[in-house]
Amino acid sequence: MLKFLGHSSFLIELNGKKLLFDPFILGNPLAESIRIEELRPDYILISHGHGDHVGDAIAIAQQSGATVISNYEIMNWFDSKGIKALAMNQGGKLSFDFGIIKMVSAAHSAVLPDGSYGGHPNGFVIWNESLSFYFAGDTALSMEMKLIPMSCPKLDFAILPIGDVFTMDVDDAVLASDFCEVSTVVGAHFDTFPPIKIDHNKALESFSKVNKKLILPEIGAQYNWNTWEKL
Ligand code: NI
Ligand code: MN
Repeated sequence: MLKFLGHSSFLIELNGKKLLFDPFILGNPLAESIRIEELRPDYILISHGHGDHVGDAIAIAQQSGATVISNYEIMNWFDSKGIKALAMNQGGKLSFDFGIIKMVSAAHSAVLPDGSYGGHPNGFVIWNESLSFYFAGDTALSMEMKLIPMSCPKLDFAILPIGDVFTMDVDDAVLASDFCEVSTVVGAHFDTFPPIKIDHNKALESFSKVNKKLILPEIGAQYNWNTWEKL
């Protein structure tokens, strides 16, 4: 199950564990239907330090007791606020009961909301025996993406930013999907703010004309990642 919470935030349930990605909810007027206290994640994965990704992670971790997973610098920042956090860094993997998380490079920038150094921005590839997916975070198109199919199991889908201005646009995301050898892309980082509003039909067409599937998820909707039907 994959649930879209707006902007770059997703709740993904894997082997009974809830993984919450980049929870920017209370600051996103489009996500006002989401109740953060109902999310109850086991883990909160933070791609980089920007406010639209760190978002409500502290409050959600305090409510749920979730463990934050991020880079070393962001782990320290959460740790200093009394939140349980695990550090990893680019190229490294951590094993959990739900699967393996590998931290991969993102071409972006990062500073934490209070100005603290956020280290390098990242993406995550997560897999287990039945699923493999890439959460790119905020990133430009990058040759580094070609390393993913060389070093990780074949991806079932990739969550890629498509909103332009701060990240890749749709056309670069099509190239990114080639680089990481995936045919199903879930769009993220679009429509939240005026500069990243996109033309949905044009975006869908850019993928369909290369015989790939783009999912433009609806905020609050849950999807089956095999069929991409709404649950
Ligand atoms: Ni960012
Ligand atoms: Mn962002």
